[in-house]
Amino acid sequence: MVSRVIPVEPFDLVLFGATGDLAQRKILPGLYHRFEVGQMPDGARIIGTARSDIDNDGFRDQVRKSMEQFAPGFSRETLDRFLAHVEYVPVDALGEAGWSDLKERMREDVVRAFYLSVGPSLFSGIAQRLHDAGLATPDSRIVVEKPFGHDLASAKALNEGLRACFEEHQIYRIDHYLGKETVQNLMALRFANSLFEPLWNSTHIDHVQITVAETVSVEGRGAYYDQSGAMRDMVQNHLVQLLCLTAMEPPSKFSPNAVRDEKVKVIEALEPVAQSDIARGQYRAEKGEDGYVDHVGNPASRTESFIALKVHIGNWRWAGVPFYLRTGKRLRARESEIAVFFRDPPHTIFPNVGPLHGNVLVIRLQPDEGITLRTTIKDPGPGGFRLSDVALDMSFADALGAEAQAPDAYERLIMDVIRGDQTLFMRGDEAEAAWAWVDPIIQGWEQRGDRPSRYDQGSSGPEEALMLMHRDGRRWRQIGG
Ligand code: BG6
Repeated sequence: MVSRVIPVEPFDLVLFGATGDLAQRKILPGLYHRFEVGQMPDGARIIGTARSDIDNDGFRDQVRKSMEQFAPGFSRETLDRFLAHVEYVPVDALGEAGWSDLKERMREDVVRAFYLSVGPSLFSGIAQRLHDAGLATPDSRIVVEKPFGHDLASAKALNEGLRACFEEHQIYRIDHYLGKETVQNLMALRFANSLFEPLWNSTHIDHVQITVAETVSVEGRGAYYDQSGAMRDMVQNHLVQLLCLTAMEPPSKFSPNAVRDEKVKVIEALEPVAQSDIARGQYRAEKGEDGYVDHVGNPASRTESFIALKVHIGNWRWAGVPFYLRTGKRLRARESEIAVFFRDPPHTIFPNVGPLHGNVLVIRLQPDEGITLRTTIKDPGPGGFRLSDVALDMSFADALGAEAQAPDAYERLIMDVIRGDQTLFMRGDEAEAAWAWVDPIIQGWEQRGDRPSRYDQGSSGPEEALMLMHRDGRRWRQIGG
């Protein structure tokens, strides 16, 4: 099964922070892949900018080196053709230097996008500069990376800074989880099949578990991470987005505002979370391996590298159905999934078969993307009547072949920017609503001076996270199980 690659319109994409890590690791290799499959037209141009005083060739050399590291298997001949579309202009983001050169390079008759692959402290300043230089034309687009603020007040300030120079329909706030193929599949599963929707409510669903487990540490990102923690770094954005797509009402159409309206309603319906429904952890040093506090260089750190929490959505569909969220670093396996646990049958006609385990629908986001439905069947053979659990298992790789080698989330998202489709980007009110829910939770543990408990590296997180479930008579699915 091969999907059609439809070339986008000619564009000028100005990449701020072009020599930085994200640009070199994700954005430029992503653009190369889109070029390789024929989605970037001849009239496409990528203009890297940063402070480094290098020329076009110096920048292209840098991109070549990054490709070796981050896009192994690329073709040299294709890369040379791709690099013919890449230029560089040194620009001082908040100063004077370079802006007139940049303006001269830009064409009038193509899609114009400014990608700010820089820290949020530069967003408003660059937006203002673009505006002052006359570059922020009514059809141009501005793309900003996460973190979109540190709390509600800073997110509001960022929104104000951007909206002073661009309209909301020009602003693309990236949450790269929305670019993941399987995350989009969640919408297809729910809204392109009639099987699930009648069951998708508190009458039939007992609870939902959303897990984003990582094996990586915070090494190398300590300064940022210690100011954020798992709640700000992962829950406020990626996990909340997964929860929204799982819980939202069917939008009337697949259009940016119809989808985002429904997501905002879910976020606004999130109930405050009691501190007793939260488990926070920090991975400890062990067997000669540094722990969290070593990686961030802060022995007194109270920041969590793991969090689990029980969340309720106060609306008609989900009343009484807990959503358990958990995410953490240095865990047992890299595994992200959404598991929907259906209620047990109300009555069993099979005596003496032990407890039934009920149906569980698991959407595996990564790795081994796919969908599993746990069902109960009869054990084969004569004799007694025993039941066992079996999985109806669908792996995208098996079902869809090579095409299931989904493009990196960034590839999809950058092409959506050029196409002018905001469906997979966060709207300003959505980002603010998520912070409005998160802020009091963080304030709660900060005011009490709570310390996260320690957990072993390579484990499933701290004991408290297990207790959070056991208390409710439930169990987490095993990470890496
Ligand atoms: C980023 C977080 O947004 O997402 C990182 O800042 C995290 O801490 C990463 O590691 C996870 O993304 P992925 O695509 O590897 O699951």
